[in-house]
Amino acid sequence: LGANAPQGSLAGRRILVTSGPTHEPIDPVRYIANRSSGAQGTALARALRDQGAEVVFITGPADIRPPEGVEVVAVQSALEMEAAVQAALPVDAGVFAAAVADWRVASASDRKLKKSKDGLPVLEFAENPDILKTVSRMAQGRPPLVVGFAAETNDVVENATAKRLRKGCDWIVANDVSPATGIMGGDENAVILISDQGAEEWPRMGKAEVATRLAARIATTLNSKS
Ligand code: CTP
Ligand code: CA
Repeated sequence: LGANAPQGSLAGRRILVTSGPTHEPIDPVRYIANRSSGAQGTALARALRDQGAEVVFITGPADIRPPEGVEVVAVQSALEMEAAVQAALPVDAGVFAAAVADWRVASASDRKLKKSKDGLPVLEFAENPDILKTVSRMAQGRPPLVVGFAAETNDVVENATAKRLRKGCDWIVANDVSPATGIMGGDENAVILISDQGAEEWPRMGKAEVATRLAARIATTLNSKS
């Protein structure tokens, strides 16, 4: 491909996208979750597909319907998401939009916990694998482009720049989710793209438009590499 591909085209490229929340089981009927809607990840998968990419869409439990024409891998927990990501490799780009739970219950019960007069249950936590970091730091087979996301409430550029270096990814798509912005749970996003070129602030726009712009940027970047 490469030379003949139009700029902005992702034809022939395989791209994985993680999206949505994860659910961490407590017992067979209970879990710990977060508020991710999966909207930005879903929009991205759609935009990448529209540019011609073969998209592997690895999604936690979200209410939003995945786009048509992508390979959907539905997972529940962070551990399952990590396994699905490993199974999807190799890819030309990995886009990690999921809100992965940082912790899981250390020993989830295989039976429903019952109320007891002996007292309240105590949950112990274990840290989940950092999927983005693991993929970013692969010694062999690292995707040529690795993109992480960061939702921050304060010092967005500073926090996201540090996060990019800590993870070892190429870009961080940072957004300000402080309550004053009204971003959280809405249709719009205000993005700052952090790369080795520094911080690029995008105007506030719809999540679909953010996705289109990111997909175009991914295309030009991949096509300039090979
Ligand atoms: N991520 C991941 N696996 C995890 C945690 C996070 O792949 N176990 C990815 C997310 O999909 C996102 C990026 O890492 O692309 C940043 O997530 P974030 O929660 O902001 O980073 P953390 O390192 O967990 O830092 P924090 O303590 O701020 O939550
Ligand atoms: Ca986190």
